[in-house]
Amino acid sequence: MIRLQKYIASCGAASRRAAEEMIASGRVSVNGKTVTEMGVSIDEYNDEVMLDGRVIVPEEKKVYILLSKPKGYVTTACDDHGRPTVLDLVDVPERVFPVGRLDLNTEGLLILTNDGEFANHLMHPRYECEKTYFARTAEPVDDSALEMLRKGVKIEGGFVTSPATVIRKDANKFSVRIREGKKRQVRKMFEAVGAKVLYLRRTAIGELRDTQLEKGKWRYLTREEVNYLMNYSSEK
Ligand code: URA
Repeated sequence: MIRLQKYIASCGAASRRAAEEMIASGRVSVNGKTVTEMGVSIDEYNDEVMLDGRVIVPEEKKVYILLSKPKGYVTTACDDHGRPTVLDLVDVPERVFPVGRLDLNTEGLLILTNDGEFANHLMHPRYECEKTYFARTAEPVDDSALEMLRKGVKIEGGFVTSPATVIRKDANKFSVRIREGKKRQVRKMFEAVGAKVLYLRRTAIGELRDTQLEKGKWRYLTREEVNYLMNYSSEK
């Protein structure tokens, strides 16, 4: 059992004080009956509470998860081919979803949340958070090709990629930092200069990194990390 005003507040509809005013002014009903007196308790699991004629339900606790995605997992909530999904790796009671995507065979950092607003911020093309990848190609890539990747290359559909930061680590190993998130973008960028990516791992989302997180494991983002990502996306 829970006090009606507390229940209304937990639905995100109002502060507790404002909820009391809503009750007093006859805007709230429980199981179809308007309640105007204070101090009424309700059964939060079985009673139906309406505000201005609309059913209200408690908001789910917002959760923010960082997963180290292994190869072989899809980032969609379910897969027609029955392949395992990243949701199989994250055992939380909340209904979380991945923010953006990683290819089946791409590894690395992936955020999952049930906060739609947060996810929209991160994925909005205007604010899109930079992502860094480690890529290993089948063949060496020369400096002139890297320069093309830095300036922008034409990939499928005539899309020209924005300037990217590309750092050579070895003849066929690179760090690539991009802003956009077109499907299979890094793979297609290398294809555009004649190289095939054999291994791809996302190593950073903005400045968010975690080299300790083991493949297939997850952890909650800290409050600072959530704030950082929120601000990162909104300040660009
Ligand atoms: N670029 C790709 O090619 N694949 C990914 O999964 C992410 C970025």
